Amino acid sequence: MDLIQQLIARAKENKQRIVLPEGTEERTIKAADQLLADQVADIILIGNPTEIEALAAKFGLSHIKKATVIDPKSHPKKAAYAELLFQLRQKKGMTPEKAAVLVENPLYLGSLIIKAGDADGEIAGADNTTGDVLRPALQIIKTLPGISCVSGAFLIFLKDKSYGENGLMLFADCAVMPNPTAPELAQIAISTADTARHIAGIEPRIAMLSFSTKGSASGEQVEKVVEATRLAKELRPELAIDGELQADAAVVPSVAQKKAPGSAVAGKANVFVFPNLEVGNIGYKMVQRFGGAEAIGPLLQGMAAPVNDLSRGCSVEDIYKMVAICCNQAIAVKNRK
Ligand code: ACO
Repeated sequence: MDLIQQLIARAKENKQRIVLPEGTEERTIKAADQLLADQVADIILIGNPTEIEALAAKFGLSHIKKATVIDPKSHPKKAAYAELLFQLRQKKGMTPEKAAVLVENPLYLGSLIIKAGDADGEIAGADNTTGDVLRPALQIIKTLPGISCVSGAFLIFLKDKSYGENGLMLFADCAVMPNPTAPELAQIAISTADTARHIAGIEPRIAMLSFSTKGSASGEQVEKVVEATRLAKELRPELAIDGELQADAAVVPSVAQKKAPGSAVAGKANVFVFPNLEVGNIGYKMVQRFGGAEAIGPLLQGMAAPVNDLSRGCSVEDIYKMVAICCNQAIAVKNRK
């Protein structure tokens, strides 16, 4: 069974409640129907019930009736969620009036449903930008204890199985933090290690990437990666983590032998931590497009409950897989408690 099939099977065994705020978006509603048919998750669709019913009829979706549909304009808990938003954000200038408006925004409502304990995770972004999906989640759901920095990892399935873990690698951060500081980069490494263990099911060997290997170059950017490596090791001494490493030294044994002899990671890394978002985002897209790798994500990590962002070019299948992954993230969060 491949990794995604395993994640789907695990989701079915321990069903989670997943909110889909873009409940009237065509690919989302089709994915929801299939997820309900396969009993992967309990689905909460946000949207106008009449519109959802009409779309289900138009596309012949017979399982949507098993979803919980929440009309953002009128539902029994609307006032309670607005009050929750006001309480959570009043120090940031939230007023009851603003909360009453924002609670009708499906992306805010999705995060509030999770914060109130009425759902376990959320997937959105088929119709909305990354920033619009993330902002309410960051403001309302917040981070896990000990983590202040949410980041985004990709599962990268390479054609060449000699790299990573039989061709599987994790890349981070490719989605959230434009320019992390050294302490933030250390947190990204730790969150990605947890994603590697709990979602990919592999023991991480983490390369902190740079244009320098073990002092071959110097400067501010190199120092940031060296410091992040030191901090990550201090925080989680049990992790196999090394840096600063160039990408070839991280995955090619012969280069590793020359540039970083004796490293427990160099030449066999299965996790790449990029120094900033520009490199991470461009890097994963190049591996995907030029290398023909399959890239699944971003899996947002470090949030107190999982919220994942879709690409606006996503397919029904992408949404289905992301819901299965989100269920596994929700299970991992609950297991921490
Ligand atoms: N981790 C934890 N909390 C965060 C993070 C983070 N990474 N970033 C922001 N926050 C919190 C802030 O502390 C703040 O909380 P507060 O209001 O309670 O004080 C809240 O979120 C809002 O912070 P802002 O800085 O005002 O957030 P802003 O809306 O400006 O930006 C965002 C946050 C949207 C994540 C921004 O960093 C961003 O746009 N990142 C890039 C996303 C992107 O475009 N990625 C590339 C595309 S994705 C892809 O290709 C796969």
